[in-house]
Amino acid sequence: MLEGLSLHKQFGGALAVNDVSFTLEDGAILGLIGPNGSGKSTLLKLIMGIEKADSGTVKLDGKRISGMKSYQIAERGVGCTFQLTRLFGGLSVLQNLLVAVASAQRGDAAKAKAIDLLATLGIDRLRNVTASSLSYGQRKLLELARAMMRNPKVILLDEPTAGVNPILIETMLQFIKSMNRSGASFLLVEHNMQVISKVCPRVLVMDHGELIAQGEANTVLSDSKVIEAYLGRA
Ligand SMILES: Nc1ncnc2c1ncn2[C@@H]1O[C@H](COP(=O)(O)OP(=O)(O)O)[C@@H](O)[C@H]1O
Ligand SMILES: [Mg+2]
Repeated sequence: MLEGLSLHKQFGGALAVNDVSFTLEDGAILGLIGPNGSGKSTLLKLIMGIEKADSGTVKLDGKRISGMKSYQIAERGVGCTFQLTRLFGGLSVLQNLLVAVASAQRGDAAKAKAIDLLATLGIDRLRNVTASSLSYGQRKLLELARAMMRNPKVILLDEPTAGVNPILIETMLQFIKSMNRSGASFLLVEHNMQVISKVCPRVLVMDHGELIAQGEANTVLSDSKVIEAYLGRA
């Protein structure tokens, strides 16, 4: 179980994350929505140790992970993908997956796992092309595969479907559901409400750094505070 307790993060005068607490239960897919600039990416960065919270705590299975370095948090089983892809364009698709694991573990088993992940995503035929030659959507699939290479328990996804065509979105969602059935939990930042209602039984809603609603997806999406938050900045 991943827990955030009263997290705060200020950038200059702006409170990017203001007193946010949440629980991601084991085996859940929790959605995180909110207008642009509401603090979603910052919250993910606080969890991942990429940004340091001004106050508040993140716990994984009851143990504090906030204050640890990102790589230590990753070693404890938290993986992520970023809003902008961070692939090695000059490396092949397969190499991009292998660099995610420690060099001592880059043997046949890692290679088999990488090919298996690529096959599940329907891009194993592209394993030897450079990442830079992939389409944008294929790169997003590759990032997702890379996040899974270390068998994370919890995966944080920052707008994985943004700019991706509907067919690849469907592939992505099937992949997320399948990884979830094998035990991985997800915190999914998503602007596509159809995606939210398809895969997230529960959602959190942020606005201006604050958690303004949480609960069952359909209830939350029809909440007047939530609708107002979106319309107010359309
Ligand atoms: N590194 C940073 N330096 C200064 N301000 C930042 C930084 N990162 C985010 N912010 C600000 O924090 C707020 C929340 O941003 P962000 O977490 O990216 O929102 P979201 O992902 O919901 O669009 C915004 O006002 C943004 O401008
Ligand atoms: Mg963002």
